[in-house]
Amino acid sequence: MGVPDCIAIDGPAASGKSTIANKLAEKIGYLYFDTGIMYRAVTWMALRHEIPFEDETGVSTLAKNVPIDVKPPSVEDGRDYDIFVEGEDITWKIRLPEVDHNVSVVSVYPGVRAALTAQQRRIGLQGQVVMVGRDIGTVVLPEAELKIYLDASPEERAHRRHQERLERGEKANFEEILENVRRRDKIDSTREVAPLKAAEDAVIINTDNLTIEDVLAEVEKLIDQFKRGK
Ligand code: DC
Repeated sequence: MGVPDCIAIDGPAASGKSTIANKLAEKIGYLYFDTGIMYRAVTWMALRHEIPFEDETGVSTLAKNVPIDVKPPSVEDGRDYDIFVEGEDITWKIRLPEVDHNVSVVSVYPGVRAALTAQQRRIGLQGQVVMVGRDIGTVVLPEAELKIYLDASPEERAHRRHQERLERGEKANFEEILENVRRRDKIDSTREVAPLKAAEDAVIINTDNLTIEDVLAEVEKLIDQFKRGK
């Protein structure tokens, strides 16, 4: 058996999914695709078009009609890719606190999820992909051959987000970030459509006391087991 064709990595905010998936994809020559950027892009569009987040129809229409372009990085500023919407480079804008704060609300809407899930599934089914999100193993690509669910305590995850912000030279308040992590966990895991949860056949890794290298080693071990057909 070769390397699994589709690798799904799910888990709550700041559990280390993106970092691990990105490094793994680079190592095995797969496409790295972070589906969270699409929910963030829709949240940014709503802000840009001044559509209130409570306007479910308005926000869902944006998700359905406005294309999100994801391309290889054109600027060396630490980005993994370029994200363009309506000709605007929104790569860093989708990380702003206003987006962080509202993205979970936007991702509850079934119309938004239907529009984005369809695009994600099309990309995933092309294969050779490490796809990251909340519902990849359960809804977007239930046929993924390897499913991993990365978890960590809210405190540890808030600490990681806090560090990331400081490293980018942004202002950051740990308590506010922790509260936002808890709030998003609650919304993400209790929504009706595609809630955050581990697929029944996912391998759960708690990353609280693990370094990035430790987690990567665990994941590579799982890939080796897969190759040996276990
Ligand atoms: O991974 P992230 O923090 O960039 O994700 C942002 C939000 O997008 C998250 O709070 C929930 C939503 N999301 C989702 O509902 N389903 C996905 N597959 C990916 C993200």
